[in-house]
Amino acid sequence: MDRYRRADRLACRMAWIGNGNWRVDMVDSDHNIIIGDNLSVMRKMVDESVDLIATDPPFNKGRDFGAYDDRWHDTRAEEGLLLRARSMAAHEYICWVEEFASQPFANFLVFLGIRITEMHRILKPTGSLYLHCDQTANSYIRLLLDTIFGAKNQRNEIIWCYTGPSSPGTRQFPRKNDTIFWYSKSDRWVFNKDDIRVPYKALGKTGFKKNGQYMTDDEHRSYLEKGKIPESWWNDCTRVAQLAKERTGYPTQKPVSLYERIIKASAPEGGVVLDPFCGSGTTLVAARNLNRRYIGIDSNQEAINIAERRMSS
Ligand SMILES: C[S@@+](CC[C@H](N)C(=O)[O-])C[C@H]1O[C@@H](n2cnc3c(N)ncnc32)[C@H](O)[C@@H]1O
Repeated sequence: MDRYRRADRLACRMAWIGNGNWRVDMVDSDHNIIIGDNLSVMRKMVDESVDLIATDPPFNKGRDFGAYDDRWHDTRAEEGLLLRARSMAAHEYICWVEEFASQPFANFLVFLGIRITEMHRILKPTGSLYLHCDQTANSYIRLLLDTIFGAKNQRNEIIWCYTGPSSPGTRQFPRKNDTIFWYSKSDRWVFNKDDIRVPYKALGKTGFKKNGQYMTDDEHRSYLEKGKIPESWWNDCTRVAQLAKERTGYPTQKPVSLYERIIKASAPEGGVVLDPFCGSGTTLVAARNLNRRYIGIDSNQEAINIAERRMSS
């Protein structure tokens, strides 16, 4: 562990060897995929060693997805105690939620709360967390993030929109959006705005004025060519379709293009990107495509097998 503590370029690889035991190997590498409970792995990571955490934890859907279970029956007493010791504000907030929400809901927030506390610790002062969720728990998660990161450090609530079939009997608008909360650790966050520009929609020349004057053709052209910074709602990162080439079959897989935008915006080139709930490795594929170092953690063997396969191809 000492070697690990000395440099953020070193990480540990943990392998489940049965009967409650882990094998922990030190690997001197920039690229790591680790099997294990992310709480125990993150607790071994040094303070302020990660540039960006982009992650998609379970959403509290109350369902068993086969590869992983998104039901929260456990009281998680130990994690509750740990959370109380590490972040009293988050713990008190969850006790307040317990008054009106169900116990599984509070269990889920304890699970997430202690892990977000670790994420906050290991982020560099210039680092950011992007946390993916949906309307099942997003309002509760936002307040949890406020208690740990501070409300003033919320940079964006990104709405990722997609399309898909709706049930013929529906009596409400089909829910086709997720929320991605972006929090920075401090007021010194990274935002590579020129790396994420998108083209303007074709507009008539009359819409373009500078200092009250219409632009010249050259000004207009270079303005259009530069593109714009996307708004905080994204509808151009298509959901992974049934027949998409990138589809792995892992439940709740997200598109690489979505995580590429996040990484381009908020991780410096060569920086360390961590996904502690990496599933099939989408964030890791995006990080590798963009020359960032990566650490992926998942507790599920099937997820790790798929992620390793994707990263070796
Ligand atoms: C929503 S999925 C992530 C999907 C991923 N974004 C993808 O594109 O494939 C959540 C993942 O969290 C993992 N997970 C749940 N609890 C965990 C824990 N305590 N430690 C590590 N991974 C965990 C599950 O195994 C699952 O793969």
